Amino acid sequence: MMHEKPNRRRTLAKLAAGGAALLFCLVFTAVPGDGQSLAGRWVAPGRTLDNGEQQKSILEIKQTGNELTGTLKNLGFSVEVKGTATGNHFELFVPQWNRERPVFVGDLVNGELHGMEGPRSVVAKPAGPGDDIPTVAYIEPPPLHTVPSNGLARTPPMGWNSWNLFAGRIDDQTVRTMADAMVSSGMRDAGYIYLNIDDTWEGVRDAQGNLPSNHKFPDMKALADYVHSKGLKLGIYSGPGPRTCAGYPASYGHEAQDAQTFAAWGVDYLKYDWCSAASVYKNDVLQPVYQKMGAALEATGRPIVYSLCEYGMGSVEKWGPEVGGNLWRTTDDIRDTWASMIDNVEKQVPTAPYAGPGHWNDPDMLEIGNGHMTDDEYRTHMSLWALVASPLLAGNDIRTMTDATRAILLNKEVIAIDQDPLGKQASPVKNGDLETWIKPLAGGGVAVGVVNLGPAAAQATVKASDLNLGGAVKQARDLWAHQEVQFKDGAYSATVPSHGVLLLKVNGK
Ligand code: GLA
Repeated sequence: MMHEKPNRRRTLAKLAAGGAALLFCLVFTAVPGDGQSLAGRWVAPGRTLDNGEQQKSILEIKQTGNELTGTLKNLGFSVEVKGTATGNHFELFVPQWNRERPVFVGDLVNGELHGMEGPRSVVAKPAGPGDDIPTVAYIEPPPLHTVPSNGLARTPPMGWNSWNLFAGRIDDQTVRTMADAMVSSGMRDAGYIYLNIDDTWEGVRDAQGNLPSNHKFPDMKALADYVHSKGLKLGIYSGPGPRTCAGYPASYGHEAQDAQTFAAWGVDYLKYDWCSAASVYKNDVLQPVYQKMGAALEATGRPIVYSLCEYGMGSVEKWGPEVGGNLWRTTDDIRDTWASMIDNVEKQVPTAPYAGPGHWNDPDMLEIGNGHMTDDEYRTHMSLWALVASPLLAGNDIRTMTDATRAILLNKEVIAIDQDPLGKQASPVKNGDLETWIKPLAGGGVAVGVVNLGPAAAQATVKASDLNLGGAVKQARDLWAHQEVQFKDGAYSATVPSHGVLLLKVNGK
């Protein structure tokens, strides 16, 4: 049974952002002719979090010959590490995050581990008895019951989220200026309503257990009022563990209290992220743990969209609606690369039967406009998210969008495919480098996307007989060219650039 978050690719950034650093403790045991043992417990201080708390990391290592195994913990998570020691040089990996790139690489120097953790240099010293991550008492999750549907998210939620671009650098002023830009750019009027603050807003619980925001968000209620005054809705972030992924306080043991706080602030959307819950719960209790917050949100009486974030563990698509969930992540975190984007959408293919009005599969937020894919790739990203009825949460800087980014995010014909009231999730059929996704639409038409996964331009052919329209096409429209196209002899062909897409809306006779 897996207790940990799988494959955390953003770890290094997060360790830096959240302020974690590595550590170990060391027992100097001479290994004949081959350096010294790295076995033991090590500690490295992290940065001071935005709530004044000190992040730190603890590394516990065992060494057998040249092989290293152990655990790495910080305030946000605990994961298994594996690696090798060659003389005094070591390389440590977190296999569930990345088997190719070490999480910590360096040398044993004068009884300390000197190394690089991503771009950051870290010195880990032998840990003392007081160097540990606080443990919490186990609270039994509640018995299962069905949380009634909140009636929200009849089409996939649309909006903006702070994490992909800003990570730990989000604050009140940025959210306000983003709210202004959501209006002036036309995003709000195109349907992007939720403005979601992700991790790192949290303060430190007070004596009564209330969780305030930290200095970056001086008055959350006033911020919610501002966001609402713009015709937008406010989202926030927490999790079922003691800590969030970035090491801030999360809702463990305070679920009802936090739900009341969020409701009192005027929050309209909660993303609830597993992270350090893995240090408390086994993942056979995912459902009751998520139910606990679902019921707490329901008890507030405020309509709050409930977004589950546990990376698709435990077939969440089968029980997400039972806990009051409106959407749930199906994969690990997206990155702003072609491979990650395609990987995420393909991984959630088996969840297709479970999407529908009020409950959506979520292959993660959009990276469109963040700069590491081409415009063709971003058009494919937008098309695929629409075809699979994904939530559309932009993750770029709306205040400074290029015209190309604007044209992609604001393509109303593509948004309409995503927001189609039938709420079907397309599935792909592969033919060489071309992958065809067909999404049935309300009213009997279909959206068809042909994605070119290959390195060169290719000819895509859409056959009317494949579209479940009785074989006869009445009208077809290219949703990126914004023009009608003609099927001839029962087919339509077009050249699709490498990593590009042909996206059609087709109606039968
Ligand atoms: C996890 C989530 C991300 C983001 C970060 C914040 O990695 O999957 O989407 O919320 O935590 O720490």
